[in-house]
Amino acid sequence: MNPRIVVLEGDGIGPEIIAGTVRVVEAALRQSNGAVDLVPKPIGLAALERHGHTVPAETRQAIDAADGILLGPVTSHVYDIFKPENANPSAYLRKTYDLYANVRPARSRQGVKSMSDKVDLVVMRENTEGFYADRNLMDGNGELRPNEDTVLSVRLVTRKASLRIARAGFELARARGGKKRVSLVHKANVLRRGDGLFLECCREVAQDYPEIAVDDFHIDAAAMHLILRPEHFDVIITTNMFGDILSDEAAGLVGGLGLAPGLNAGDRIAMAQAVHGSAPDIAGQGIANPSAEMLSAAMLLEWLGHRRNDAALRRAGTLIHAAVDKTIARGETLTPDLGGKASTDAFSAAVAGAIG
Ligand code: NAI
Ligand code: MG
Repeated sequence: MNPRIVVLEGDGIGPEIIAGTVRVVEAALRQSNGAVDLVPKPIGLAALERHGHTVPAETRQAIDAADGILLGPVTSHVYDIFKPENANPSAYLRKTYDLYANVRPARSRQGVKSMSDKVDLVVMRENTEGFYADRNLMDGNGELRPNEDTVLSVRLVTRKASLRIARAGFELARARGGKKRVSLVHKANVLRRGDGLFLECCREVAQDYPEIAVDDFHIDAAAMHLILRPEHFDVIITTNMFGDILSDEAAGLVGGLGLAPGLNAGDRIAMAQAVHGSAPDIAGQGIANPSAEMLSAAMLLEWLGHRRNDAALRRAGTLIHAAVDKTIARGETLTPDLGGKASTDAFSAAVAGAIG
């Protein structure tokens, strides 16, 4: 049976960039002789309107029977973690399917104005706990307000989650075969217990990877080093919020959010999802850059290819990466955020054309 990917458009620019991404995925699969069934399902605000739930039952059932998810950005701030039918689809899917590893690469590209041409790193961000109030075992009540003038934001760190994100990060450093370096990012000087446990787990896992060099940075210092010497970094393993922030910073270093892909991987299923949001300021204009979503889809195809030992799927992923790079380096068909005048559709056609 072909692997199945459930396609979820999302809000704002979601439908525009998902259309372009699907087009490019289909072109890559044709070229590589790979086979995947793409199954579109409702999600987000459109689903709430039509089905009374942001992640309707038919969508959940399709995902239960699928191998991957392609998710467009969602307008997170309008959702309500206290109302299940109005759940933030992104958080809901990460949590329900235990997508614990948020993998966010940043790489310098020819033809993109950026602060450094030497960036080639991946942020491996823990995705299921940390400071996120919807992910800390308190059923969405992770922020406590004992009185009108006081709030306690609770941060969860567990041995289980720390060990598995560390394992995912070291495996990635080994598979990349590049600088073979893992940098652990934390704030153990202040969050002694939480980040102390996180570091302890990472160092335990490091024992199994003697060929990987390990160093560590406080989050504030890491933020600076990322700008001063980004070429130092290969794989960064860190907790949820630090990873959220550092990955946007890394994206900024190499040309912005329009080019920043991400994969949310669990043990059974993975979800492709760009780092950027639903960009309400440009939604509906047909000018959004679909690159980040395309590159996320490429990561998903590669992930599926590795798990299923399917070289055609891995090749489809590689083809998408190369075609996005080529289209941008050529510089003829670029969306406005990259300095061009092309529409989302024209850019998508150019990428699909570069595959064939
Ligand atoms: P945003 O990432 O949507 O937009 C920030 C800026 O980058 C805007 O000027 C936007 O036009 C631009 N931008 C983003 N993606 C682009 C693309 N593909 N092509 C061209 N320009 C692009 O962040 P913002 O405005 O803070 O959040 C908007 C909504 O998205 C909020 O509801 C937020 O909570 C949500 N959000 C959702 C995420 C997700 O689904 N993964 C991630 C981040 C934010
Ligand atoms: Mg973010």
